[in-house]
Amino acid sequence: MSNKRLTTTAGAPVSSNQNSLTAGQRGPVLMQDYQLIEKLAHQNRERIPERVVHAKGWGAFGTFTVTNDISQYSCAKVFSEVGKKTEMLARFSTVAGEQGAADAERDVRGFALKFYTEEGNWDLVGNNTPVFFIRDPYKFPDFIHTQKRHPKTNMRSATAMWDFWSQVPESLHQVTILMSDRGIPTAPMYMNGYGSHTYSFWNKDGERFWVKFHFKTQQGHRHFTNEEAEQVIGQNRESYQEALFGTIERGEFPKWNVFVQVMPEADAEKTPYNPFDLTKVWPHADYPLVEVGVMELNKNPENYFQMIENAAFSPSNVVPGIGFSPDKMLQGRIFSYADAHRYRLGTHYEMLPPNQPKCPFHHYHKDGAMRFFDNGNSNPDAYYEPNSFGGPVEDPSVAEPAMKISGDADRYGYDTSYDDFKQPGDLFRMFDDEQRERLFKNIAGAMQGVPSEIIEKQLKHFDAADPAYGAGVRKALGISK
Ligand code: HEM
Repeated sequence: MSNKRLTTTAGAPVSSNQNSLTAGQRGPVLMQDYQLIEKLAHQNRERIPERVVHAKGWGAFGTFTVTNDISQYSCAKVFSEVGKKTEMLARFSTVAGEQGAADAERDVRGFALKFYTEEGNWDLVGNNTPVFFIRDPYKFPDFIHTQKRHPKTNMRSATAMWDFWSQVPESLHQVTILMSDRGIPTAPMYMNGYGSHTYSFWNKDGERFWVKFHFKTQQGHRHFTNEEAEQVIGQNRESYQEALFGTIERGEFPKWNVFVQVMPEADAEKTPYNPFDLTKVWPHADYPLVEVGVMELNKNPENYFQMIENAAFSPSNVVPGIGFSPDKMLQGRIFSYADAHRYRLGTHYEMLPPNQPKCPFHHYHKDGAMRFFDNGNSNPDAYYEPNSFGGPVEDPSVAEPAMKISGDADRYGYDTSYDDFKQPGDLFRMFDDEQRERLFKNIAGAMQGVPSEIIEKQLKHFDAADPAYGAGVRKALGISK
């Protein structure tokens, strides 16, 4: 017998949780059975909108530990000394599938991190790939429409995907990664993570650097072929959840080595490629990896919905010493995420347990739905700013150094300095014969049912990256040039 008494949400004890209050043995139910009404009404509100993308996810808490001093690049307190530990939260995801999608599907994986630093939450909302399909946020909703369901058939459409990719050649780099072995990691522990965008650091002297973040798995890379993934999905649609939850429960904590590539601010004018183009990587020979620390996941959430479904990651969450860059995609995302959170979770989503800063916070946002907290600003007279009552005040010492920006306002399209085929070609040339064969087969399989004129358009992109790439896909499709 439990010694905890069941109550209504208002705290009144409940006499029965099994039998409705009825007029006689056979009913009907009396409207005054408020406990029944409350129970049914709450059930009707158990679901919230799923994320418009990255709906299926797996998450855990952990620790970030600094192993190398990078204070010459960033004054962010999270990096202030070797050995420093910061609590963090990770959520991994697939992009296209809904909340009930099978885990082991071929897709890009989200790699979203929230670091609870002493100067606020720093979110790095990346993927398991260093690049992305597009470089302009204007294209994002259209791109996602091609990944989701067709309005009439309500099925995913290979035609829509290849129709879009074949007309957006900058997608080729990411398409090549997606169709390669890295397209289906066996579980979140066996993949790298990337901030993908170019972000910035600034140091205590006000010098700015452009940076890219890399998280290298210590567990090694493991991937499924299409056939292996089919087997897994046939037996277990929650294979990632099982693997991540299980490894942490067993005390086998997954770890990633954290690195940055660092580019001095003025170099951005000199590189032969646009360093703010999200469809490109920076050559490691030019900008080698600089060690930063280790990320370890070591705690499963007690309640998945509370901590993972309610988690709100946003590229807009930066802290002093870490900043944005001119990357157009990043700029679009700075708007999009908090807007999604206000819709998906509500105005005060930052006060939900996974999103609350672990440092003191004081702001002047007022009231609104579910305003169940004060803002740490306990003086009731200091509810506006400026005030004479000791309310929180700004701190100019955390201001980012001024960023030089120039240019004519316009809607800029393709620029010949973008070479959308060299890097995918370089990647292709790194694959050995077996990796290439699997790539060709995966692409040919994913093109089933796609009209030939769309396939022809896409084949030209493969040819442009490397003639052997186009030839291999043609052969796998059983067509000649
Ligand atoms: C989730 C928008 C590009 C990684 C989301 C969500 C939105 C969104 C609205 C759902 C947020 C939520 O409901 O909590 C966009 C837009 C993009 C873009 C407008 C381009 C302009 C990217 C890129 C990456 C990325 C380039 C990676 C480099 C993620 C991840 C999540 C996510 C990891 C899941 C976060 C979580 O686990 O809660 N995105 N996205 N997105 N996005 Fe993007």
